[in-house]
Amino acid sequence: MNKNNSTIKPPSISGDTFQINSFEEYKKLYEYSIKDPISYWAEQSKKLHWFHPWEQVLDNSFSEADVAWFSGGRLNVSNNCIDRHLNSKGDQVAIIWEADNTKDSKSYTYRELKHEVCRIANALKTAGVRKGDRVCLYMPMIPELAFTMLACTRIGAIHSIVFAGFSADSLRDRILDCNASVVVTANEGQRGGKALALKSIVDKALQGISSVHTVFVAKRTEKEVTMKAGRDIWLHEAMARERRSCPSEWMASEDPLFILYTSGSTGKPKGLMHTHAGYLLYALQTFEQIFNYQPGDIHFCAADLGWITGHSYVIYGPLASGATTIMFESTPLYPDAGRYWQVIEKYKANIFYTAPTAIRAIAKEGNEWVEKYDLSSLKSLGSVGEPINPEAWYWLYEQVGKSKCSVMDTWWQTETGGIMISPLPGITEMKPGSATLPFFGIEPCIVDENGQEIKDTQNNNGISGYLCLKNPWPGMARTIYGDHERYVESYFTQYPNLYFTGDGCYRDADGYYWITGRVDDVINVSGHRLGTAEIESSLASNPLVAEAAVVGIPDEIKGMSIFAYIIPSKEGVAMKSEEELSGILKQQVRQDIGSFAIPSNFQIVSGLPKTRSGKIMRRILKKIAVGEYDDLGNITTLADSSVVEELINLRK
Ligand code: WTA
Repeated sequence: MNKNNSTIKPPSISGDTFQINSFEEYKKLYEYSIKDPISYWAEQSKKLHWFHPWEQVLDNSFSEADVAWFSGGRLNVSNNCIDRHLNSKGDQVAIIWEADNTKDSKSYTYRELKHEVCRIANALKTAGVRKGDRVCLYMPMIPELAFTMLACTRIGAIHSIVFAGFSADSLRDRILDCNASVVVTANEGQRGGKALALKSIVDKALQGISSVHTVFVAKRTEKEVTMKAGRDIWLHEAMARERRSCPSEWMASEDPLFILYTSGSTGKPKGLMHTHAGYLLYALQTFEQIFNYQPGDIHFCAADLGWITGHSYVIYGPLASGATTIMFESTPLYPDAGRYWQVIEKYKANIFYTAPTAIRAIAKEGNEWVEKYDLSSLKSLGSVGEPINPEAWYWLYEQVGKSKCSVMDTWWQTETGGIMISPLPGITEMKPGSATLPFFGIEPCIVDENGQEIKDTQNNNGISGYLCLKNPWPGMARTIYGDHERYVESYFTQYPNLYFTGDGCYRDADGYYWITGRVDDVINVSGHRLGTAEIESSLASNPLVAEAAVVGIPDEIKGMSIFAYIIPSKEGVAMKSEEELSGILKQQVRQDIGSFAIPSNFQIVSGLPKTRSGKIMRRILKKIAVGEYDDLGNITTLADSSVVEELINLRK
C-alpha cells in the first residue's frame, strides 16, 4: 500500500456542482445525511418519477438484513430511464453504441430507445413472460442488451445478466439457480476482432434443462446458427411483429429489479438481488454527483454490462439522469492502444470511467497513443474495481486528464449497488491511491478482528482493519435470490449490526479511506471477482487432481493473478508431465468457469500447509508464491511443517 500522503488540489470545474460548491458544503451536507438520513433521502427521492408517492422512507432492521426503502411507492425503472425524458429530450441521443469495428457504430435517441425497448417488452410478453419472472441475458455488448434490460424492467420481469465470458457450465448454474424461463442471447459476439460463439454456448448450457421455454437470439453477425424449433426465436423477427409502445408496470419500490451473480469466499456464486426504487435512486444520485454530470454531457463508462459497473453507470444511472451514454463493444487495445482515446475524441466525451487494469495495460504501450487524440472534452475521470496504484493514478490524471480533471477513485461492490467512497470532482482533495471520503448517507467504519470499531487513536496517525458499513443505504442489495439466510450469514453475522464488506482498509489522519484489498478468499483479477473456492473445486473435479489450493498474487497489469498449487492424484502423477497437466487443468477451468478464471501459475506439490484442524493456510501459500520465504509469520499451528520446506525448495 502506498500511504504517501501527497494531496492534489481538485482542478476547478466550470458551472455549478450539485448543491455543493465547496468542501465545507460537502462536509455539512454529509453530516446532515448521516444525522437525518430520512429527511436527506426523502428530499433525494424527488429525483425519481413516481406513479404513486411512497409512504415511508425507511423500514429498517439492518442487523437482520431486512430493510425497505420508500414503501408504498409505485414507479417503473424503464419509465424513469426513458418516458419521463421524452418531452424535453425525445430527440437527444440516449445510447451511443461504439462497435468493435468503429464503422458499425450506431446511436439511438430517447424516442428510438423507447420504441426498441417496447418492442422487446411486448415480445417478452408474447412469449409468456410476466411480472416477477426471471429472464437470463447472455449477450455481447450490443444495443439489444440494453434494450432487453430495460424491457424487462418495463414489464416487471427480473433480469439476470451473465457476463458473456462465462462458460456453458457457469451459465447453466445461473439459469438454474434463479429458475429463468427465458434466455436472450446473440448468434455470436464480436470483441477485439474475434467472434464469440454465444448461441452454441447457450445450447450447451440448456442441455437437459426444461424450464427454459424460449430463447431469443439477436443477430450480431451474419453467422448461421442452429435454431431449435419451438424454442429459439430471432429477436429482430419477434420485434418486427410487435408494437412500439408498451405500458410500464406499476412496480412497488421493493419489487425485485435484477439479480446479478458474484463470487463470494465460499460455495457457489451469490445471486444478489436489487430492487426498483432504492437501487435506481442510488445509481442516479451517485452518477450525477460523483461525475458532476451536467445536462448535455456525454458519458463514457467502458465497463461490460455483465458486471455491476455496467448496470449502474452505463445504463441505469446515466439514463435515469437523461444523459447520453456510450456502450463500448470492443477492448482498450483493439485495434491498438489508442482505442479509448479515439472514442473520447470522436464523441467529445466529458466523463470517462474505467478500471485500473485497463489503464495499466494501455500505459504500458507508451504515451504516444494518448497524445495522438484530442481529449479536451474530458471533465471527470473515474476508476473502479480494484485498488489503483499511484503510478496508474498519475498516468490517468496527467496523460489523460492533462491535470485538469479530478480522478474519482470509486470504491463500491456488486452488493452496494452504487459508489460508496469517492472524491467529488472539484471539491475533494485527492490522494493518489485513496478512494478518499464516503458519499452522502454512507457511514463506513473500521473494525478489528473482534468486531470492535477502531476509533481514531489519540495522536491519530491512522488505523487499519476491516471495512464495514453502519447504516442501510437505498442502493444496497436486499438479499441473495432464494436464500436470505445466506445473505445474512455472508454479510451481517461477522460483526453485529454491521455490514461486512470483505475488504481491508486503512484510514489516515485526515479520515481518508485506503482500500487494501480483499481479506476473504476472493481474488480480484483484472477487476473480475473470483472466489478461490470456485476455482479450487473446478481444479479438484479433474480426476488428475487430488487436491488444489489457489491464492492471489500481485500482478503488474491485472492487479492480482491466480497461483494454483496442485497435488496430483495417482493417475495425475503417473501419466502426465507437469506441462501437460497444467494444460489440462487450464482447459478444466475454462470449461467450468471461463477463460478469465484460469490460473497464471501452476505448482505441482505433494502436500499443502494445513492447520491441525485441516484448514489450508493460504497466508503461507501466498508468501511462498511471491518468494517471501523468510517472512512466513507464525507457522507453529501447522500440522506438518516439512510441507513448507518442500514448497520452498520447489519454488527456489
Ligand atoms: C474491489 C465492483 C479498491 C473491492 C464495483 C470490492 C476496489 C470489490 C475499488 C467489489 C476501489 C472495487 N479501490 N478496491 N476503488 N472498487 N474494489 O462486486 O475489493 O465486482 O470489494 O464491484 O472490488 O467488486 P465488484
